[in-house]
Amino acid sequence: MIPEQTSVFHATSPQTRAIAQLFDFDLAIAAAIFLTVAGLVTICVIRFRRRPGQGEPRQDPGNPRLETVWTVIPALILCALLAATAYTMLAVNPPVGAREPDVVVVAHQWWWEYRYPRAGVVTANELHLPAGSNCLLRLESADVIHDFWVPDLAAKSDAIPGHPSYLWINPEQVGVFTGSCAEYCGMCHGQMGIRVIIEPAAAFAQWLASQRALHGAPVAEDARRGQRLFLERTCMNCHAIAGTPAAGRVGPDLTHLGGRQTLAANVLDNTASNLAHWIRDPQAIKAGCHMPDLQLTAQECRDVAAYLEALP
Ligand code: CUA
Repeated sequence: MIPEQTSVFHATSPQTRAIAQLFDFDLAIAAAIFLTVAGLVTICVIRFRRRPGQGEPRQDPGNPRLETVWTVIPALILCALLAATAYTMLAVNPPVGAREPDVVVVAHQWWWEYRYPRAGVVTANELHLPAGSNCLLRLESADVIHDFWVPDLAAKSDAIPGHPSYLWINPEQVGVFTGSCAEYCGMCHGQMGIRVIIEPAAAFAQWLASQRALHGAPVAEDARRGQRLFLERTCMNCHAIAGTPAAGRVGPDLTHLGGRQTLAANVLDNTASNLAHWIRDPQAIKAGCHMPDLQLTAQECRDVAAYLEALP
């Protein structure tokens, strides 16, 4: 499997670098406050501790100058934090204006749909983006509130039904980055993984072109049986495969499933045996998911898997 990275401390875009800088700034201020307060408390505890034979200490009814100072200083610190946060938010998510999104991300229980409107491409669970370009994502949801979070690449952003939000990503490094849904959205929230594949611009263009290609009829005998099952059983009510009558939009588009690295939203490696297992007993892999058990035999599951794996 291709190595993958997930870390809030590993910034690979201007967006995450700005967020990391804000974190460092906040952490430095918090550390300074902690050291000042803890240091003064320690000095007071030692220096003004009760000594034998000492009576009641002098009572002080208040000190307006001191109270002004310890009100004004925290207020100024909070103003500085607010200004730094507002500056970072604007740097990370500048106004979208009239720009059309490069990718429309639609969150579903419990998978991600990615549409590339200009190319007319629809895919699922693995987001491909070109390195070195400024990408605009529009986040939508088909059901409940989800949250798109890939810590290395972009800010964390909610996907809210009926209220699209926008997310800028300017990926600088080629690689595979993972993330997850970060807003509790039901049974399989913990298995709603995100996989982002950042490629050089030429490789990305090639991938996008490959996603538009249609497949011919399956060649191998088991794949032919698999296609028949796919179209005759209820698979096609939920899934689409371009170039066939299957046009369901409830589940992920499977037109190029064979070319993906993982299955079930970054839960399983994409192998024929994992796919057959997933078709045979989805609830065993992702309890509560909406993929039904179609009561196919083990051989039928292998045939459907053979068909889908032959769709690169
Ligand atoms: Cu989708 Cu949590």
